[in-house]
Amino acid sequence: MKPSQLLFVALAALTVDASPMIQERQAGAFDSPPYFPSPKGGWVADWSSAYSKAHALVSQMTLAEKVNITTTVGWSMGKCVGNTGPVDRLGFPSICAQDGPLGIRFADLITAFPAGITTGATWDEDLIYARARAMGEEAKAKGVHVLLGPAVGPLGRAPQGGRNWEGFGSDPYLQGVAAHHAVKGIQDAGTQATIKHYIGNEQEHFRGDGWNHNTVSANIDDRTLHEVYLWPFSEAVRAGVAAVMCSYNTINGTYGCSNSKLLNGVLKDELGFQGYVMADWLAQRSGVEDMLSGLDQTQPGDGESWANGKSLWGDQLSRAVLNSSVPVDRLNDAVTRIVAAWYQLGQDKNYPPVSFSSWTTNDTDVLYKGANMGPIVKVNDHVDVRANHAEVARAVARDGITLLKNNGNILPLSQKDKIRVFGSDAGGNPNGGNSCPDRGCNSGVLGMGWGSGTADYYPDIETPIAAISQRARDVESILKDQVTADVTTMAGAKDARCLVFISSDAGEAYITVEGNQGDRNDIHAWHGGDDLVLGVANACKNTIVVMHTVGPIIVEKWVDHPNVKAIVNAHLPGREAGQSLAQVLFGDVSPSGHLPYTMGKRLEDWGAAVQLITTGTGRIDQEYKEKLNVDYKWFDANNITPRYEFGFGLSYTSFKYSRPSIRQLQRPSRLPPTPPKRGSTPTYPTNIPAASEVAWPKDITTRIPKYIYPYLENPEDVKVGKYPYPAGYSTTPKPAPAAGGAQGGNPALWDVIYEVSFNVKNTGKMTGKAVPQLYLEFPKSVEAPVRQLRGFKKIQLKRGEEQKVTLQLTRKDISTWDVTLQNWVVPQGDFVVRIGESSRKFVITCSTRGGCDEERGQHRD
Ligand SMILES: *[C@@H]1O[C@H](CO)[C@@H](O)[C@H](O)[C@H]1NC(C)=O
Ligand SMILES: *[C@@H]1O[C@H](CO)[C@@H](O)[C@H](O)[C@H]1NC(C)=O
Ligand SMILES: *[C@@H]1O[C@H](CO)[C@@H](O)[C@H](O)[C@H]1NC(C)=O
Ligand SMILES: *[C@@H]1O[C@H](CO)[C@@H](O)[C@H](O)[C@H]1NC(C)=O
Repeated sequence: MKPSQLLFVALAALTVDASPMIQERQAGAFDSPPYFPSPKGGWVADWSSAYSKAHALVSQMTLAEKVNITTTVGWSMGKCVGNTGPVDRLGFPSICAQDGPLGIRFADLITAFPAGITTGATWDEDLIYARARAMGEEAKAKGVHVLLGPAVGPLGRAPQGGRNWEGFGSDPYLQGVAAHHAVKGIQDAGTQATIKHYIGNEQEHFRGDGWNHNTVSANIDDRTLHEVYLWPFSEAVRAGVAAVMCSYNTINGTYGCSNSKLLNGVLKDELGFQGYVMADWLAQRSGVEDMLSGLDQTQPGDGESWANGKSLWGDQLSRAVLNSSVPVDRLNDAVTRIVAAWYQLGQDKNYPPVSFSSWTTNDTDVLYKGANMGPIVKVNDHVDVRANHAEVARAVARDGITLLKNNGNILPLSQKDKIRVFGSDAGGNPNGGNSCPDRGCNSGVLGMGWGSGTADYYPDIETPIAAISQRARDVESILKDQVTADVTTMAGAKDARCLVFISSDAGEAYITVEGNQGDRNDIHAWHGGDDLVLGVANACKNTIVVMHTVGPIIVEKWVDHPNVKAIVNAHLPGREAGQSLAQVLFGDVSPSGHLPYTMGKRLEDWGAAVQLITTGTGRIDQEYKEKLNVDYKWFDANNITPRYEFGFGLSYTSFKYSRPSIRQLQRPSRLPPTPPKRGSTPTYPTNIPAASEVAWPKDITTRIPKYIYPYLENPEDVKVGKYPYPAGYSTTPKPAPAAGGAQGGNPALWDVIYEVSFNVKNTGKMTGKAVPQLYLEFPKSVEAPVRQLRGFKKIQLKRGEEQKVTLQLTRKDISTWDVTLQNWVVPQGDFVVRIGESSRKFVITCSTRGGCDEERGQHRD
């Protein structure tokens, strides 16, 4: 870093509280308008009992106690990655928040589930729920109050995006269904779910953490925000999610955790969010303003850098309340939201204690790890929370496996086949699957990407080679990635079935793996995978490629090679990488995964707007110019033929669709009916509390260095003063938005308007699972993507079995977001409904004008 840059950073850091985060708005420019005040929680009937209990408790709290609940105690000062200060006097515990979206990070005897992207590839609501439920149960059994997942942001607009694999796929509807069931699953187990990262965190480069003032700004227009990026968050809120994590990046130039328009306006008012907003770790940027902008809890407590012990809240929040800059009722609302979430999940009754430490695998450790001091205490109780969750994990990994090519029905394999296996991705990491912290390496079979969204395998990942060797008698392997003479000799064995394993990895920006700073440098297979496939295929007539990947890879060099008979995308299977794959390869079950993203022929095919930004200074503008046309919608709109389209996936059996019909259940008005009136919210006295409430207690004799406390040295000296409130600041609540009215938005948005029914018959030779998908074409009266996913269902059918499937279209499904009316509008004209097994292969077409046709030539066996 040059000295001039140093000076700039230092100045910027110094002025953080004074510099307004909300800039003056210029017409047409990407700026975030102010939205104040922060709406209070508690007006939704579902939450009213939790809020009245919270009100009773918070009414008794002192200022220091309230500050404790909103501020966490500092990095590594408690056992979890985030720990709030407790209120022992009233029996409110330190709230433990722990990563992440596929299992419990930094803990043993847990299940490392398949990643979100694999789960999305199942297109199976029951499995999405079952996985989440199991994760919630494990979290609770370990004493974790708040699980930091699911992730639906990034949504996956950029194929290179480092964290796309943590979410469920590059389509808002698919992400939305998954978010809904994932939140339900986690919370039905009694653990608070956190939907993240809100919002526009679509690339890792310049994502805006670490007080790096070179920060990419996700410039998203209002309609695109609503119809694409916000959609899955709305579904999570509708499911009653307890926490929303605001993201590091700026949106329209304002940081995610400082963005009053997005937190106060969109999330709390329009979507009626009743839980609390939690900052991503060190994503808080300002003390007073972030609280006014709707942030309710800071994590992990430290302000500008890891473990510096200088919170932007803590004692600063105590001061800001005493000096009147933060209104008391804003603090009360933040605290009430957090306490209400705890009651809402029933965590006030017999919640297990935290029984693991994120910071050591030893049984004992110092109490205050972040300060490396304190008494030695027992920190790891090694509670085994896995139950039968390996079965759930295996089912998800297996049913996500997506068969892309199967010429001559080379798959399934027989146990008698001569099987030759190639590629390091079929084996284990020679140093053990957990050897790289946060999975920051790509060695051996790839079960997950890297970063905070990972968990430890236990005791190690189950490898494909082990599972394959168990199943077949004649298996030989060379588990390396170079095409050497021994490889070609082995591949050339007479009648061999050659399995080539390749991979592509990505992760979070704080670790660079093989030159990739989180985001992928390109989207080819790693470790020379293309050459390995070609080397084997040139020698072996029956080559089968298996890929473990975070997202799409380019397969053009070999996809049409005549000896590449089959291609299997096994995504990121988590711990159960072996048996899940063997069950599909050897035909115990038919593959039933479908792509949760498009596999294009070249990176440029996704469009110029979504390419990674890797250079720039200051505010780096990234305009979401593709607007609604993310992933397959871009390919459709620009007539680009993908290699394998979104939604695609083959089966060992075949399905025939028949007897389609469409039914209108109600005639939709153009606008939804006026939403119901909101209930009341808790009220408290608004006078400034006594300064003595935040004086250092006499019984704290040793102050732990870098620990975040709520106390002030001479609180009585704090003077009330005039705060330079941001432009547009107000304490008068805004009128309830027309699009709001309940969690997720106006409840009428989920009124069912159309039902589309059809029969699906298994016409093949074995049991299999079909995934009928519904794509909607909007009337010509409105600009919209060519087609949008608006329904799907996974159904299992025995051979010869036929089932009726009904998919529903809600008002929201058939609406567009009107930026002028700020409401969902049903456009004039007829919709076309297409049912198919991918976003490009349709077997039924219906029109809302009436009637459906079966497409000719659908039958494939
Ligand atoms: C970002 O700016 C665009 C363009 O002016 C606007 O449509 C949108 O509502 C803004 N979004 C936010 C969150 O400020
Ligand atoms: C706030 O939390 C700290 C621990 O982080 C604890 O020592 C203190 O007693 C708590 N304060 C109050 C007023 O409960
Ligand atoms: C009140 O205290 C906060 C926290 O230290 C500070 O940011 C703010 O500027 C203060 N307000 C006034 C008017 O001094
Ligand atoms: C475990 O404890 C030993 C000393 O008892 C210490 O040397 C070692 O660093 C600890 N390991 C970890 C991972 O903290």
